[in-house]
Amino acid sequence: MSQSENDNRRIIIFDTTLRDGEQSPGASMNLPEKMEVAQALVDLGVDVIEAGFPIASPGDYEAVYEISNNIKGATICGLARCRQPDIDRAWDALKHADQGRIHVFLATSTIHREFKLRMSQEDILERMGESLRYAASLCDDIEFSPEDAVRTEIDFLCAVVEKAIASGAKTVNIPDTVGYATPRQMYDVIDTLYNRVPNIDQAVIAIHCHNDLGMAVANTLSAIEAGAGQIECTINGIGERAGNCALEEVVMAMRTRNDYYRTETGINTPRLVPISQTVSRITGLHVQRNKSIVGRNAFAHESGIHQDGMLKNPTTYEIMRPEDVGWAATDLVLGKHSGRAALADRARALGHDLTNEQLVTLFEDFKVLADKKKEVYDADLLVLIEQQTLAVSEEWSFESYQVKCGTDMVPTIQLALRHGDQIKTAEMTCGDGPIDAVILAIEELTGLDVVCKDFNVHSVTIGQDAQGEVTMQLEYQGELYRGRGTSTDSVEASALAMLAAVNRILASNAPEQSAE
Ligand code: KIV
Ligand code: ZN
Repeated sequence: MSQSENDNRRIIIFDTTLRDGEQSPGASMNLPEKMEVAQALVDLGVDVIEAGFPIASPGDYEAVYEISNNIKGATICGLARCRQPDIDRAWDALKHADQGRIHVFLATSTIHREFKLRMSQEDILERMGESLRYAASLCDDIEFSPEDAVRTEIDFLCAVVEKAIASGAKTVNIPDTVGYATPRQMYDVIDTLYNRVPNIDQAVIAIHCHNDLGMAVANTLSAIEAGAGQIECTINGIGERAGNCALEEVVMAMRTRNDYYRTETGINTPRLVPISQTVSRITGLHVQRNKSIVGRNAFAHESGIHQDGMLKNPTTYEIMRPEDVGWAATDLVLGKHSGRAALADRARALGHDLTNEQLVTLFEDFKVLADKKKEVYDADLLVLIEQQTLAVSEEWSFESYQVKCGTDMVPTIQLALRHGDQIKTAEMTCGDGPIDAVILAIEELTGLDVVCKDFNVHSVTIGQDAQGEVTMQLEYQGELYRGRGTSTDSVEASALAMLAAVNRILASNAPEQSAE
């Protein structure tokens, strides 16, 4: 346990948004998106970024490789099963990182041993020992996870942890893979390991909780109380099924209740809201309004009694300051007479230092938006900035549409799209509403046979003139592709979302360039 001068214990923050988080259904990210999230994680101050599972797919390998090569300022980690080809592939992807870590895992609970692996306890100890020794011969930073640790017999878990440390693991992670633990039980598991494993002081004990019963953060905090030194978590708590421990919640719990936990992290907390919004935008997974810390209502006070108390003294009803987690002190930003300097200032306050070139385009987009809606809020501005900074290759882009529709009539739509330097148009009478018509017309023009699996629209800010944000999921040849579009007109936002998904399909199905 590392103890700092002020007696706080420094907790290592291990983020697995790009590995376990990406396993959320429909949340897969492409390479530029993973690079953007990885850089945002460094800016946030995480210690370790788990960037992927290199043997799982060429895309995962490439992401770990590119992040290792280009993102500096955190340890980069790659996952591997207890198999030599997995470990080799992980190391190959990681070896150019300033500091790389191989994370090896093997299930240890009875249920996994008997039904999944068909291995005895002895087989498990032998396989993990061999794999860890091999991994440690390649890389000096090795983590081991006994998958489903919480449902593993405690005597066997102690033997596994001892063996992992003796075989070269510098970190041993205790996953609650199925989100089954309770806070008290989690405390006891970690406490028992500290009391019974003889070489425990030679490794950091980590904790990795899933949220199936809604207790991931509570269980993680219990493990911290029992002495765990590393937390594994994801931004917005995204992950398989009900997700993982939410980074923003666990970090702010430790910080706000420092009087109780006596811990500290390297997290730059004003970056929490911006990174939450980045991950939400990229994955298409919305943050619920009442979500702790990063939900839009997390600091909103509706009741008159609360508002009165807040005006007299904010600490009557607020245990954290909104600005400490990255909410701007005022949300009302700019209008159509605002200048470029004010825009740059606001962008900076939201955590985006733009180049001159980016600012020029942003200013143009801002003026167009400010003409359509009186007040441009931070959330509007973030949408514009994100459209600016995320480089997506656009094979098809939106030009214009007109639609005639009404009750009891089939809509007639005229749609124009840009394809390279050509404008392609379609006129069709189809669909059961204007949005359906635009979707069918895009299918017709692009020639792609897709099925819309998910469609969501919500407003970016308050007000009648608010921008609508559409997220859409298309199925193409058995794979899911996401798209997102924003406009004050929700039919146009739908067209933009669909085109974003179409461009994603085309980019990932483009034939490989030959070397000739
Ligand atoms: O939940 C889990 O068990 C995991 C391991 C691979 C650490 O994600
Ligand atoms: Zn997990």
